[in-house]
Amino acid sequence: MKAIQNLPEISTKDFPLLEKNFKSNNKIIYLDHAATTQKPIQVLNKMDEYYRNFNANVHRGAHQLSAKATEEFENSRSVISQYLNANSTKEIVFTRNATEAINLAAKSWGEFTLKENDEILISIMEHHSNIVPWQMVAAKNKCKLKFIGIDKNGTLDINDFKSKLSSKTKLVSLVHISNTLGCCNPIKEITNLAKQKGSLVLLDACQSLAHQKIDVINLGIDFLAGSGHKLCGPTGIGFLWSKKEILQKIPPLFGGGEMIQDVFEESSTWAELPHKFEAGTPAIAEAIGLAEAINYINNIGLNHIHEYEKTITKYLFEKLNKVEDITIIGPPPEIDPKRASLATFYVKKIHSNDIAEILDSKGICIRSGHHCCQPLHRNLGVNSTARISMNFTTNKADIDIFIEKLKETINFLKINS
Ligand code: ALA
Repeated sequence: MKAIQNLPEISTKDFPLLEKNFKSNNKIIYLDHAATTQKPIQVLNKMDEYYRNFNANVHRGAHQLSAKATEEFENSRSVISQYLNANSTKEIVFTRNATEAINLAAKSWGEFTLKENDEILISIMEHHSNIVPWQMVAAKNKCKLKFIGIDKNGTLDINDFKSKLSSKTKLVSLVHISNTLGCCNPIKEITNLAKQKGSLVLLDACQSLAHQKIDVINLGIDFLAGSGHKLCGPTGIGFLWSKKEILQKIPPLFGGGEMIQDVFEESSTWAELPHKFEAGTPAIAEAIGLAEAINYINNIGLNHIHEYEKTITKYLFEKLNKVEDITIIGPPPEIDPKRASLATFYVKKIHSNDIAEILDSKGICIRSGHHCCQPLHRNLGVNSTARISMNFTTNKADIDIFIEKLKETINFLKINS
């Protein structure tokens, strides 16, 4: 069991996969938390408990199992709502993932609201999930999609944002923390400026929700997309938060059971919020598991997590800066103190996939490639990068081993290239 510095009450012992021995009888060093987090035993047990003890469909049965499943399922909405400081549980719509949440906003709000020549403003650092849905709406509704650039530090170019924001802008859709650059965008400032022009703001909070407190009211945003699996919860569950007054006005994306009030032969009427957006049997175990994951994070304390991750990020950057031949993209912690606990880099003439593959053979999991950010990589003039992403289960010893193995890997690849 690894004790975690500054977080004595938490350890990786809650994470079965991180405690398991893999090849060569060593524990794996998992440095791919931005792709998906590992799941604590509390989440696994809770999902198991649902299937063993109260598996039933929600909102439909008069029997006790359905009542219990419904209570736990709706409790999850309440846990998420409180986590975001939302005004009401009616503002939380369950989706399969954050991608579906953004697609829901793009189709139900975007296609319904946007007119010819309206503009949608996103950034070049966006993940494909926050690009492609807007390209589709822009093509359908004959709108323009504009991209905010990045500055020399690898942070959002706020002057470029100001120059592209106008009264034609109807939506600014931005990532909170970039999964590749790691920068934390100044959302409150962006929202204040966007509101002056009458634009709504969508926040892709996938990479920030498990790492720092988010208050949707204080930020002044209009939509937020989140995913469960990046929050120590299961895959297959995400959510869209939006204001009741917006959700009430826009049409549902999917039709079917659960989302209706009355169905006639020719037409139907919709259920109350948020059910009008949740057609079919939802991901019940996953929603219940997600609530348990959020409780787990709340028990550690987001402030605690944020402070701890700042310490290990600083440590990582100090060490990485001393590794020869690598170029780090994204701002260092001195420039962006709220940046993510991840680092993305490349080594000239060496493919990042080779680095990741050799590190994997040494028991270290990192991500390589374009991280679903092809436009960003093209903008930076690189094909692919390697990324290590940490969370509160990572400690300095993990970083030391990673750095040692990274140096060995680069030397090996240089000799053999
Ligand atoms: N967005 C996820 C990542 O950055 C998939 O790895």
